[in-house]
Amino acid sequence: MLLGLLISVGIVGVMIYALIRFRARPGQEGEPPQTFGITRLEIAWTATPFVLVTLLFFVSVSAMQHSSPGQIALNDGARTEPRITIIGHQWWWEIRYPSGVVTANVLHLPVGQRWVAAIKSDDVIHDFWEPQLGPKIQAVPGQTNYIWLEADRPGLYHGDCAEFCGAGHAWMLVDVVAEPMAKFKAWEQQQMTSSLGSPPAGFTASEATQGAALFGQYSCGSCHFTNIGPLLTHVSSRSILAGGAISNTPAHMEQWLLNPDAIKPGVHMPNFQLSELQARDLTAYLESASAPQSASHSVASHWLVWNAKSQTATLTLVAGYNSALSGFNFDGYGKGGMVISVPVGAHVTVVFTNKASLPHSAVFTAYSNVQAASGGFAPAFQGASSPNPVSGTTPGQKQQFTFVATKAGKYALVCAVPGHVQAGMWDVFMVTKGGKPSVKGGKASL
Ligand code: CUA
Repeated sequence: MLLGLLISVGIVGVMIYALIRFRARPGQEGEPPQTFGITRLEIAWTATPFVLVTLLFFVSVSAMQHSSPGQIALNDGARTEPRITIIGHQWWWEIRYPSGVVTANVLHLPVGQRWVAAIKSDDVIHDFWEPQLGPKIQAVPGQTNYIWLEADRPGLYHGDCAEFCGAGHAWMLVDVVAEPMAKFKAWEQQQMTSSLGSPPAGFTASEATQGAALFGQYSCGSCHFTNIGPLLTHVSSRSILAGGAISNTPAHMEQWLLNPDAIKPGVHMPNFQLSELQARDLTAYLESASAPQSASHSVASHWLVWNAKSQTATLTLVAGYNSALSGFNFDGYGKGGMVISVPVGAHVTVVFTNKASLPHSAVFTAYSNVQAASGGFAPAFQGASSPNPVSGTTPGQKQQFTFVATKAGKYALVCAVPGHVQAGMWDVFMVTKGGKPSVKGGKASL
């Protein structure tokens, strides 16, 4: 600005001087003498701005780099602003806290603290815009952009996606709840609790139990535990549903489940043609505090839903769930890091999705086969394998298979595509004499 002011004053000064000094005087007629082609002058007035503008360009680029929140956090170890990750999806926002808390569409921030937000996208270009708290910033697939987010007063702030990103773009709102640090900490703590709370007013615990079974039966987890749809753990604590198309009340949840497309046109959640009774049961479950989530907060526990009545375990397996072992993992686990247990006689329904960029398969085989050469992965139970286990299923595909765990013992879950077990793509499958089914693993890196 100072440079600009100096230049303006200089130019305007010369103009005023010239206007007065060279104005037409009485008695003067016709054009004043015309002068052309003073080469030295022409070079001077071309070269000077060129040098100035070039200089300004480099100063600007360096200033932009040095003021990027992400860059500052990387360069300057002394600054320890907490970092939040915000990921755009068609059509909702995934929000990840350093504490491990994962939520969607409603962002909680402590007042008076500056956060670095890493903005990413999972599919197309979105644009995160919370006008009262920070600048607009694009969420670009394969690239991370950074902004600072800071609220200096408590309150509810509204933001949205500011770049057309498909049919559901209009319902990709984000609410920010800015609250005092103590309240924020309490919220974070509450998000980490895991026991199923009481159902919402007007619903019974048995309806919630029915709903939990339906949640497994319709494999809701194959999207909602894999970031295809929002994580629904603690959904009852959020103010909005369907990316802000409706407020979060049990009545709205029921309407939403009965016909999602009527509320949010283009939404990826299918209409399961639920009966009103089923929608009510599911609502009782989803709107219970902390649901859906099982006993331990370990992410692994999300992958299995047990229906005691029909002795059916619905197991969600995602090949290449994250970058663990360079993508050679099931649900983020490999090299025996995940232990799945079911009681003998259990019916196991496997919902298998390949999220990786390579073909993968899922086979339940004898444990000793893990050490064996590739190709020797015969299923230990009839039907305990995804189709074409050796060539694998193509990336992006979803398959389902069912088997009965007929004999107790220790087995392995492997990908039978040659070389993949060696890369670490195997976990442990236990068939126990009685007992409850479970999935155990360390806290998955999210
Ligand atoms: Cu995302 Cu518009």
